[in-house]
Amino acid sequence: MNTIQTLADKTSQAGADESNLDGINIAYSQTRVHTPNSQLLKENRIISGFTPGPWLEAYRMLRTRCLQSMDAMEWKTLAITSTSGKTGNSLTAANLAISIAMELDRTALLVDANFLNPAIAKLFGIQTDTGLSDYLLHDKEISSMLINPGIDRLVVLPAGKPLFNSTEMLRSPKMVRLVNELKSRYPSRAIIFDMPPILSHDDTLGFSPYVDCVLLVVEEGRTKSDELKHAASLLKDINVLGTVFNKSTDHTIPFHD
Ligand SMILES: Nc1ncnc2c1ncn2[C@@H]1O[C@H](COP(=O)(O)OP(=O)(O)O)[C@@H](O)[C@H]1O
Ligand SMILES: [Mg+2]
Repeated sequence: MNTIQTLADKTSQAGADESNLDGINIAYSQTRVHTPNSQLLKENRIISGFTPGPWLEAYRMLRTRCLQSMDAMEWKTLAITSTSGKTGNSLTAANLAISIAMELDRTALLVDANFLNPAIAKLFGIQTDTGLSDYLLHDKEISSMLINPGIDRLVVLPAGKPLFNSTEMLRSPKMVRLVNELKSRYPSRAIIFDMPPILSHDDTLGFSPYVDCVLLVVEEGRTKSDELKHAASLLKDINVLGTVFNKSTDHTIPFHD
């Protein structure tokens, strides 16, 4: 399995395009634009709040490795998960999506599919209470809930209201149809799903057959090897793109296999 390393950050915290597909109206011309607060981005470790350096480079490396593997297989959809909470799953998803959007010929859609502990809107300082769950429950138009977080070529779909039957909703024909529509529409777009930890909730395992591939985030000094083995065994029939060795304190090795 490929391993890509992202560093431990200690510096902070202490286009108009339209489609109407089978009722899924995705009109980027009406996407709400959020004005980011650069101090908040930095506090939240979002790379667009940082100047160039090793912190950004690690995510650029992660992006290039992911896109090379995904392009080779013509994969567009990537779910990001971890073995347990607080590993850096959501931050990896956000920073990877931003790095992809930094490529001038790519666009990225970042979907918060963690209804248990949604984080993506908060990371960017976006105030909203609607998102994916409102589409799944109430047929709310996806286009009306997409937000540009002030970064070119990146669009965010927040999680929305809590879902008590999230596993069933994520596996529903409606969700599967949405994923397929999103990925078939724009060839240059990567779609990143921020998921709950795979060992603590069955949402991720239930949903992973509907994405092209999965990236597993592990944390230096915290993720146990038997947890990692367990996660790998659960994902044995899924395309696992690799692992992200997050919060690495070794700043000398940019990446390794
Ligand atoms: N590489 C990193 N270096 C330093 N802190 C990190 C790193 N990755 C994540 N964190 C911090 O760890 C905490 C948990 O991250 P988060 O992405 O919310 O985890 P998860 O989604 O796995 O629960 C956050 O405070 C986040 O800023
Ligand atoms: Mg999270």
